[in-house]
Amino acid sequence: MKRILTLGIETSCDETAAAVLNGGREILSNVISTQIPVHQKFGGVVPEIASRKHIINIMPVIDEALNTAGVELHEINQVAVTYGPGLVGALLVGVSAAKTLAFALKVPLIAVNHLEGHIFANFLSSPNLEPPFLALVVSGGHSSLIKMIDYNNFELIGQTRDDAAGEAFDKIARVMGLPYPGGPQIDKLAKIGNADAIDFPRAKVSDFDFSFSGLKSAVLNYLNTAQMKGEEIDKADVAASFQRAVIDSLIDKTVAAAEKFKLDKIILAGGVAANSSLEENLRGVCAKRGLEFFYPSKILCTDNAAMIACRGYYQSLIKNFAPPNLNAIPNLGLVTTN
Ligand code: KG4
Ligand code: ZN
Repeated sequence: MKRILTLGIETSCDETAAAVLNGGREILSNVISTQIPVHQKFGGVVPEIASRKHIINIMPVIDEALNTAGVELHEINQVAVTYGPGLVGALLVGVSAAKTLAFALKVPLIAVNHLEGHIFANFLSSPNLEPPFLALVVSGGHSSLIKMIDYNNFELIGQTRDDAAGEAFDKIARVMGLPYPGGPQIDKLAKIGNADAIDFPRAKVSDFDFSFSGLKSAVLNYLNTAQMKGEEIDKADVAASFQRAVIDSLIDKTVAAAEKFKLDKIILAGGVAANSSLEENLRGVCAKRGLEFFYPSKILCTDNAAMIACRGYYQSLIKNFAPPNLNAIPNLGLVTTN
């Protein structure tokens, strides 16, 4: 059977990534060069440094993806690239590389929405998964509930009104003196803490929207007050209680949305999906309610190019190709219908 090889490229934030997929779901390679150690000393991603590092890394990462896949450049049938949302300078590196390769190889170029890519990571981890389903996408930049009707038809049901879940994790970790990115640090610390120790507030937001800024302020106030009074705080308890509050809000809304929209499959996506407690709790709640639960492997939760190639492949099936003058769109929203 003829192979359809998609080269995926992802440079929206602090990972330079390239992957080769055969068809929609077979990963031949998935190379990720992370810049986390570079940004760690600044406590967060420095956009200018990210762009420069992407420029240095992009071609070696693409070469490695081809080598690992055992594929020659001329065998690639199409190039899929993240064109938003993300940091503009970072996105432009991937977009420029993809445009150049697609032009030189005379193959179609596919423009992929990063958020849609996160959802599609689930198709790689769960080969039998098919839409329709409800997706909870939680990352450093987004917290959204999305109804996926079919492969190329999405509906945004709810989103955060202020901070993204990952952003709140990163901010709280930073104030507690934990290194960037804070999500995995809080996750680790929370395992030895008591989630019932501190009763942090859960925001009451209507419909299926989220809000994490009130919770973030409550945790910051708690930490500041303790510091002013010279009281010792138990960081593990703070981490566990904060994490519980985030997870409670995410799970409550997700389950309510699944009920309202009569969807019996729930998928988790985005960097915060790597949170062990979120995964465990959502899995438990789904099992109790007879909902099927899907979850990407850890490496496919955070930013990678296999998920971008996967999304690109399904766009190619409906000939959703990009023009050769494709530009990056840093604040790209979710395209609801293709
Ligand atoms: O999807 P992603 O890699 O990049 C964006 O598109 O934003 O998500 C990164 C976010 C960061 O905020 C990071 O702290 C969070 O995902 N994250 C986690 C965990 N691993 C990564 N948050 C909570 N628990 C984790 N284990
Ligand atoms: Zn992401």
